[in-house]
Amino acid sequence: MARRPRAPIPPTSGAVTVRAVRRSDLDQVIALDAQETGLEKRDYWERVYKRYGRAGRGEQSWFLVAVAGNTVVGFVIGEVRDWEFGSPPCGWLFAINIEQEARQAGIGSRLMTSFCDGLRAAGVRKLRTMLSRDNTLVLSFFRSQGMMAAPIIPLELDVAAAAGKGRA
Ligand SMILES: CC(C)(COP(=O)(O)OP(=O)(O)OC[C@H]1O[C@@H](n2cnc3c(N)ncnc32)[C@H](O)[C@@H]1OP(=O)(O)O)[C@@H](O)C(=O)NCCC(=O)NCCS
Repeated sequence: MARRPRAPIPPTSGAVTVRAVRRSDLDQVIALDAQETGLEKRDYWERVYKRYGRAGRGEQSWFLVAVAGNTVVGFVIGEVRDWEFGSPPCGWLFAINIEQEARQAGIGSRLMTSFCDGLRAAGVRKLRTMLSRDNTLVLSFFRSQGMMAAPIIPLELDVAAAAGKGRA
């Protein structure tokens, strides 16, 4: 059966606004991530902010937050990667997180829409992401956004164990 086209979701509706991250949002982003992962990674987030949070005009990365008043209730981060694995420029989403109390209210969908609008404006045709295979919540969410299995597979190597075995 053909998918019904999604109604466009405006970047600002109701009490929640989607906008580019600001330096002053970072503490809340770090807390939101820590709530989900159980780890506070301040150094990591400082690096992410430097790389993605200060994108100038013409740059192809996005660090968007959803805010209700002064409260950050969600974020999405991604970028365009050129010719990785032989693929034409492609959008990659590598983090999305919605505050637990704010879930199932369409905020994740709005962040996705804003990110995809940015990709389209940059002339990018594909969006990819990776997720843990047991994360059924995130899988359900991405599927709801129309994402399907990609024609690529991730591989990994235990580099510590491989040492001395005549392998990489
Ligand atoms: C996945 C996540 C981003 C969804 O955000 P959200 O704001 O709740 O999503 P939305 O309200 O826009 O929901 C869109 C669709 O996703 C799916 N979905 C959302 N929550 C779901 C749930 N608990 N169970 C099943 N499907 C769900 C539904 O299909 C939903 O559409 P519907 O409301 O018409 O049923 C949010 O739950 C989250 O941040 N989870 C943790 C993410 C995480 O692990 N991040 C770390 C790795 S990047």
